[in-house]
Amino acid sequence: MERCPKHIAIIMDGNGRWAKKQGKPRTAGHYKGSENVREIAICANRLGVEVLTLYAFSTENWIRPQEEVNYLMKLPAVFFERYLKELMENNIRVSMIGEIDAFPLDTRNVLLSAIERTRNNTGMVLNFAMNYGSRREITLACREIAEEVKSGIKQIDDINEDDISKHLMTAIYPDVDFMIRTSGECRLSNFLLWQLAYAEFYFTDVAWPDFTPDEFKKAIEVYNNRHRRYGGL
Ligand code: FPP
Repeated sequence: MERCPKHIAIIMDGNGRWAKKQGKPRTAGHYKGSENVREIAICANRLGVEVLTLYAFSTENWIRPQEEVNYLMKLPAVFFERYLKELMENNIRVSMIGEIDAFPLDTRNVLLSAIERTRNNTGMVLNFAMNYGSRREITLACREIAEEVKSGIKQIDDINEDDISKHLMTAIYPDVDFMIRTSGECRLSNFLLWQLAYAEFYFTDVAWPDFTPDEFKKAIEVYNNRHRRYGGL
C-alpha cells in the first residue's frame, strides 16, 4: 500500500438488513458482523494501519429491543473467546472508547481483560467504540476543561484545539484519516465528530457482514487517489 491511512474509523452498518435478507434474526447479522471484525482487523494490521476504530455500540443503541441489546452485550465475550489468541498472535492491541460502566459487569470484565491481556502488543490498535457518542464525549471534555479553569490550572484564553483533542477519549490517537460507512447510509450518526474534521469519507452499499478484506483494500485504494488539502490548495 503506497499510503496507508494511519487511523481508519468504520461505521459497521447493515447487520440487521443482511440478516433479514437471509431470513435470519437480526442477531445473526450481528454475529456475522463480529466475525467480520476479525477479518478486517487482521487485514488492516497487515496493511500497516496504526489505529482501527470500530463503532460497535452507540449511546443511541440502548433504545433497540431489549433482546437485541442483550445479544450485543454478550457478543464481546463470544468474540474474544474465539479470537483473542489470534489477536495476540498478530500483535494487535485492544482498546476502547466510550462509557463501558453502563454495561453489565461480565461484559465489562471481558472488555477490560482483552485490553489488559493485549496491553504490551505493539501492532495495530483495535479500538472499539462501545456506548460511545461523540456529543457526549465533547460534553465530558468541556466539563473537564471547565474544572481546570475553575481550579486555576488553566486560563480561558489559553484553551486551544489541542486541549480539546487531549480531553477526548481518543486523546492518545491521531485524528482519523479515513472513515468508512457500510450499507448505504450517508451520515455520521454521532461518531467521532471532532476527530473526523479532515478525514476522507467512503460510503459503500455493501453491508458490513459482506465487507470483505478485498472491499476494504478497494476502499483504501480510493483513499490513495484522493488529494487531501486540509483547507489549502
Ligand atoms: C449496525 O447495524 C451495527 C451495530 C449497531 C452493531 C455493530 C456490532 C458489531 C458488528 C459487532 C461488534 C463486535 C464486537 C466484538 C463488539 P444495524 O443493526 O443498524 O443494521 P441495519 O441498519 O441493517 O438494521
